[in-house]
Amino acid sequence: FPRFREGEFGGVFNLGPASNLPPVGSAPQANTKGKFWLVHLEEGVLALYVVCTHLGCLYRWQEAQNRFICPCHGSQFQKDGTYIQGPAPRSLDRFVVRMLDAAGNVLAET
Ligand code: FES
Repeated sequence: FPRFREGEFGGVFNLGPASNLPPVGSAPQANTKGKFWLVHLEEGVLALYVVCTHLGCLYRWQEAQNRFICPCHGSQFQKDGTYIQGPAPRSLDRFVVRMLDAAGNVLAET
């Protein structure tokens, strides 16, 4: 079933054991193959689709402002993807992240 291909967009990304994730509170990490930003927060692991919810540009993490900002029309989002301001109609889209498979790995389903 195509949705469950591993390691390519539209499939499942194995992020390794939870202990290998970037530390809680660290800067989001871009996963270009999976087309998501990996965000590790107290409340869990998020995989945010890299495409802005406005007109499809690629937004960027801005560490100094502690938020994502889209260069096209200036939409801004919190680290967890929540909409802050700008023309985007909603918060960033999230992929499903399963915390553990049978081998103890964290999986993101793109
Ligand atoms: Fe991101 Fe317009 S495409 S703000």
